[in-house]
Amino acid sequence: MKIDGKVVLITGASEGIGAACAAEFARLGARLSLTARSAGGLARAGGDSALITPGDLTDEAIRHLVMARTIERFGAVDILINNAGVGVYGPSWAAPMEQTRRMMELNYFALLGMLQVAVPHMRARRSGTIVNVGSIGGKVTLPWMTLYSSTKFAVGSLTEGLRMELRGSGVHAMLVCPGYVTTGFQKNVLAGAAPPLVVRARRFAITAEECARAIRRGVERDARTVMAPWSGWLMVALRRLLPGLVEARMAEMSETP
Ligand SMILES: NC(=O)c1ccc[n+]([C@@H]2O[C@H](COP(=O)([O-])OP(=O)(O)OC[C@H]3O[C@@H](n4cnc5c(N)ncnc54)[C@H](OP(=O)(O)O)[C@@H]3O)[C@@H](O)[C@H]2O)c1
Repeated sequence: MKIDGKVVLITGASEGIGAACAAEFARLGARLSLTARSAGGLARAGGDSALITPGDLTDEAIRHLVMARTIERFGAVDILINNAGVGVYGPSWAAPMEQTRRMMELNYFALLGMLQVAVPHMRARRSGTIVNVGSIGGKVTLPWMTLYSSTKFAVGSLTEGLRMELRGSGVHAMLVCPGYVTTGFQKNVLAGAAPPLVVRARRFAITAEECARAIRRGVERDARTVMAPWSGWLMVALRRLLPGLVEARMAEMSETP
């Protein structure tokens, strides 16, 4: 899909990958509708021209409000970037249930709720792209955040099924699997902390701007899956070919002294 003139609704746009997507899509002439809880962050990301709707996306009323305001202002939604997400670190067997449920509520149910308000509109127009931001952790389980990984596996499966459901409708569904991206994600988690070896791997991370560019290019070519960085596919292949070796290395990485 060409970006110029398109209406792009981005969730989790107050910082990180979502804010970088706002800059990247605006640069190519998109009209933006941005949402997250922080009004200040949204105003910084959107500048003068974006429509901003602050609110908690786990609230169904907010999801409907964002969609209604976007249609009212721009007349349509061409691209939904379902990006808002949060993490929980630590072993699954000791994870706090309340924070785990809140993570699932945002990473999976809010994302599902957003696409449920956008898809009927897009189907009626026979045009649109749904971009669901998953994770490399939704392809290869990360044992230092097993429960976060499971939310992202759910997002991956949902996106794949949605794409098949929508075949021939003019609406496309794309999955994004970021690897390590330098954002506030680690400090924004709902529980736990990244183990030292994972924190140290930050030197291999890509920037939010690089991730946003990969997402934009994926939308332009109607990609099925965008891995950012591309080298994430090597990890996926290695996990398939040498599962024992990869599991041992990953388990080592999740150790805390
Ligand atoms: N960074 C990485 O290494 C990485 C890797 C793989 C996948 N991802 C995925 O990429 C996406 C973006 O992450 P990021 O790295 O950019 O993290 P981030 O910097 O922490 O940004 C998360 C965004 O989600 C919003 N958000 C959080 N809770 C919300 C809620 N209840 N309602 C509405 N918005 C909410 C935040 O805004 P407010 O606080 O203002 O609400 C913020 O804009 C997430 O889905 C994440 O899982 C990140």
